Amino acid sequence: MKVSACRASFSKILKEAQKVVVITGAGVSAESNIPTFRGAGGYWRRYEATSLATPGAFRSDPSLVWEFYHYRRELVRKCFPNNGHKALALLEQKLEGENKDFFLITTNIDGLHQRAGNKNVLELHGALYNVKCTACNYKGINNDSPIVPALEGKGLPDPKQAPARIPVKDLPACPECGGLLRPDIVWFGENLDHGAIKKASQKAEEADLVLIVGTTSVVYPAAMIAPNAANRGVPVAEFNIDYSNHTSDFQFHFQGPSGTTLPKMLGSVFGFFRVRRRKNSPPRGKSLTKILKKRTYIENLGTSLSF
Ligand SMILES: NC(=O)c1ccc[n+]([C@@H]2O[C@H](COP(=O)([O-])OP(=O)(O)OC[C@H]3O[C@@H](n4cnc5c(N)ncnc54)[C@H](O)[C@@H]3O)[C@@H](O)[C@H]2O)c1
Ligand SMILES: [Zn+2]
Repeated sequence: MKVSACRASFSKILKEAQKVVVITGAGVSAESNIPTFRGAGGYWRRYEATSLATPGAFRSDPSLVWEFYHYRRELVRKCFPNNGHKALALLEQKLEGENKDFFLITTNIDGLHQRAGNKNVLELHGALYNVKCTACNYKGINNDSPIVPALEGKGLPDPKQAPARIPVKDLPACPECGGLLRPDIVWFGENLDHGAIKKASQKAEEADLVLIVGTTSVVYPAAMIAPNAANRGVPVAEFNIDYSNHTSDFQFHFQGPSGTTLPKMLGSVFGFFRVRRRKNSPPRGKSLTKILKKRTYIENLGTSLSF
């Protein structure tokens, strides 16, 4: 299939779509200063981030892995949704107002879509502030900063930083059985929740338009949702600064940072650009970026975290 970057054809499909599914990965949050796992930001100290996000790493050094997640928890607290997140939140609002369907599937664990105002969000890989017990079935949300006193000031990413070597008794503990808590995140080598992947696939099967934003499409099974939709003939639009493994399967590829391309491609469709200045004056284009700035209140909607 020839991949297109034609704004007019994409706009026509978006206007007519009744069920839109959006799939996002780490790239959508890159402009909020949250590092992706691949590329320049993919290192913490001298470790590849992907090598710490594994059950094996946690078993052999829970202190080190908690330091890494403590660092990410504290970092995300200080980050805000960018214009890409906000454009997706406006898209959901807009479609909802027209009785159309919107469903967002993310492999991100940062909660920024909800903080931008999206409501129909499925977090396929879990969430940064969710915890679960390694000894019993306890699962919960913990927004404490730091999560335990022993992690205060720890987790600095400098490669020369010595590991904190926190004893297990001082790491986050289960409120029910006292066992060691871990982040409730799907780590590399672990299985996704069966119900979640079933729901994501079902939503993508019903969709008449799929947007895929900021993901390398290499983490399975989430990576196959958009290519499977494309194989069924559903238009898929990719938003990425680069080409991905599956770009050639898709109908559209909009290259560039999603904080710019999403407002540009979505904003024009719903007339966000058309703002009348004064009575009798001709309509003048107004950038969605300006409108988004005015709508920063959206950041405070739908958040499960206290900032
Ligand atoms: N923010 C987060 O929550 C976060 C961050 C890092 C990793 N993770 C976890 O690690 C896994 C990594 O997989 P992944 O494929 O999602 O991410 P990835 O790190 O493998 O890939 C990031 C993708 O985003 C693209 N990208 C980078 N900056 C962009 C921008 N400004 N605009 C558009 N695209 C941009 C890159 O070209 C790349 O394709 C995820 O499943 C997730 O669980 C989450
Ligand atoms: Zn427990």
